[in-house]
Amino acid sequence: MLYLASDHAGYRLKEIAKQFLDFLETEYTDLGTDNDETPVDYPDYAKKLVKKMNGKKDRGILFCGTGSGMCIMANRYKGIRAVVGNNEHEVLLGRSHNDVNVLCLGGRLTGENAAKKMIKIFLDTPFSGEARHKRRIKKLDLK
Ligand code: RB5
Repeated sequence: MLYLASDHAGYRLKEIAKQFLDFLETEYTDLGTDNDETPVDYPDYAKKLVKKMNGKKDRGILFCGTGSGMCIMANRYKGIRAVVGNNEHEVLLGRSHNDVNVLCLGGRLTGENAAKKMIKIFLDTPFSGEARHKRRIKKLDLK
């Protein structure tokens, strides 16, 4: 399953992403927030999303003002590999080399078209599966 969550600052970009996912006929679950007027705390929504991500195939997209706060919080959880989507290349290599499973986007920084392109790459790019990438990923989860 693909999960989405945002704070108030990421809400608008999340709505745009939902329209785009509908267009792509990609199923998702929206975990909130549901408006941009009531301030909420990004760690609460990042936590809500990562707690839903059980399966290896689960993915998430988090939206806050910059993408950074969500990314910091998400990466505190074992098995989560989140990146801030700054550009398409970063997302492509993040998927291919790091098997990134959470994409974080900044509602106050990322343009609509750039967000759509990065979402498409995030969804479509497979993990390389190469031994050196697997070995490095194994070292990410601290005991
Ligand atoms: C909320 O104003 C803002 O600080 C938050 O969305 C985010 O950008 C934090 O990283």
